[in-house]
Amino acid sequence: MNIIKEHNIVLSARHGQDCIVLKSLSDKHLPYLYKWNSDPEVLYWTEGEDIEAYPPEVVHQIYGSISQNNPCFIVEVNGEIIGECWLQKMNLPDVQAMYPPNTDVRRIDMCIGEKSFWGKGLGTVFVGILVDYAFCTEQVDVLHCFCEDYNVRSSRVWKKLGFRLALTEELPQPNKGKLHYHWCLRREEYLTLQK
Ligand SMILES: CC(C)(COP(=O)(O)OP(=O)(O)OC[C@H]1O[C@@H](n2cnc3c(N)ncnc32)[C@H](O)[C@@H]1OP(=O)(O)O)[C@@H](O)C(=O)NCCC(=O)NCCS
Repeated sequence: MNIIKEHNIVLSARHGQDCIVLKSLSDKHLPYLYKWNSDPEVLYWTEGEDIEAYPPEVVHQIYGSISQNNPCFIVEVNGEIIGECWLQKMNLPDVQAMYPPNTDVRRIDMCIGEKSFWGKGLGTVFVGILVDYAFCTEQVDVLHCFCEDYNVRSSRVWKKLGFRLALTEELPQPNKGKLHYHWCLRREEYLTLQK
């Protein structure tokens, strides 16, 4: 039986000369997930706590469980695999409770695991592709996403895509982050930005 549940969604965009494609994450991508999830420099940015590496069983557990109900994507740039992302139904009751009942709240999580591709504008493009998919195809009501204050690249991506800071929470210290940011984009705000 497969670990990662696949889907048929393929999303793409051009960024200058680059062609960016999001397609289903699958078990054939596990070697990339093992590599990125055992790179302390990548985990420094993706995890709030200091984690040196996730063993394969934990990688299976993370991507195997999320993919059952949420589309998970591998990100390709000109045919080269550079990272992954997902669009997930809000899994945090406290966040869901910030909105009226039955609001379709989702979150996006993303990681460029190939470090040489950081800071080249690609994150903004592929997260933007997923934002368009969420609002235009999935008819999501709100995207509510997270990062910590030390992750300036991530904050910039949310800001550049029109998200606004909905909540700032202090993190227990000592910690590499001092603040936990909640970034929010409502469907109406997204549609206004498109005009
Ligand atoms: C977060 C991530 C997806 C962003 O994608 P990216 O392609 O690197 O980001 P972009 O190039 O689109 O945008 C980054 C922004 O941060 C700025 N930036 C880049 N490097 C920076 C640095 N070292 N310090 C501060 N700002 C930086 C860029 O100037 C850009 O902002 P601007 O367009 O206003 O100038 C990617 O860096 C990544 O996956 N990092 C590791 C994992 C991670 O952090 N995941 C998110 C967890 S919340």
